[in-house]
Amino acid sequence: MPTTRTKPVPLFDAKIQNKALLVHLEEAFRRVMLSGQAIGGPEVEAFEQELAAYCGAARAVACASGSDALMLAMAAMEIGPGDEVILPPFTFFASAGSISRLGAKPVFVDVDPDTYNLDPHQVENKITRRTKAIMAVHLYGQCVDMEPLWRVAERHNLPIIEDACQAIGSEYQGKRTGTLGSMACFSFYPTKNLGGFGDGGMVVLSDDEWADTIAALRNHGSKQRYYHDRMGWNSRLDALQAALLRVKLPYLDKWCDARAAMAKRYDRLIEENQLGYLLKKPTVRPHGRHTFHQYVVRVGHDLRDELRTYLREKGIGSEIYYPLPLHLQEVYKSLGHQPGDFPACEKAAKEVLALPIFPELTLEQQRHVIGACADFMRCRLRMAA
Ligand SMILES: Cc1ncc(COP(=O)(O)O)c(C=O)c1O
Repeated sequence: MPTTRTKPVPLFDAKIQNKALLVHLEEAFRRVMLSGQAIGGPEVEAFEQELAAYCGAARAVACASGSDALMLAMAAMEIGPGDEVILPPFTFFASAGSISRLGAKPVFVDVDPDTYNLDPHQVENKITRRTKAIMAVHLYGQCVDMEPLWRVAERHNLPIIEDACQAIGSEYQGKRTGTLGSMACFSFYPTKNLGGFGDGGMVVLSDDEWADTIAALRNHGSKQRYYHDRMGWNSRLDALQAALLRVKLPYLDKWCDARAAMAKRYDRLIEENQLGYLLKKPTVRPHGRHTFHQYVVRVGHDLRDELRTYLREKGIGSEIYYPLPLHLQEVYKSLGHQPGDFPACEKAAKEVLALPIFPELTLEQQRHVIGACADFMRCRLRMAA
């Protein structure tokens, strides 16, 4: 399917969405400007309530980022030096970094080679008497297979922390992220499915005591002004972020559905172009709702980096989430891991490629992306012949 279109296709574009909502965003901006309340206050409280309701949870506590949400959640559980937290090595650095910053040790477990999510069947082997929690990272918008994980967690009386930073609105067996563990952490980084205009995060949970503790921890450990019961830090959410995110929240489901429809369209285009030799479509488990924060294909025959360069030359954005697994990062050298420790994760790091996806991506743009992949494959096959 040769293509004549030359217009670039970005990996992500927030401008179209922002333009469509401009009047409402400006009105929210004005409301905050005129309220005189820049940090916390009614906008943040309303956003907390609306997000808790969206997830089907009792409480939500806003904070400065998804990374801080993870740290706050674990700090409220009193996780610290000498403790271990189990998580996959195939995730954004903050999942592990938040554990290390509390002085605890990240303990890695390999991923399911099809979904790239934590393999729940390998968790039990890694549990020690120092294990304090299991972190379920719902990667790319698809939930971890929670049923077997719940069973392990229950057997060992361990809490599950959802790293749902890429999975707002995702579901497992009809339940939304935010209700699949003891606490769930969300990010409003601008490229997320619910993206803000700067950093922002939220812990969603149903335990009032933990929620109150997190609310104190994000404010220097203070429940009463200038009285500090515990060590916290400044991780408050701006009223402006909350007001702008409140404008976007009602559209989140529509946007997630649009992403899922686009993923189906990509699947179909890959099949129609007989790209099976080059690209493996994402595996979608039937256990819930995949919100396609990313549409990630697997590129075979060691051609991933070449394909990426080819797409870049054609003005098509793509990204590798993530090129170096966490256990092989320089900063985690002291953990003593070697290449080969987590084979599924290491193979994925060499092969995954995220293609452009955002709710306003057009069919024409998708055709252009897959058409370019097909051109690349034809070129390579000709060279090999
Ligand atoms: C899986 C995962 N965990 C944690 C984070 C951290 O969120 P933030 O960038 O808001 O600190 C992100 C965001 O990029 C993420 O994708």
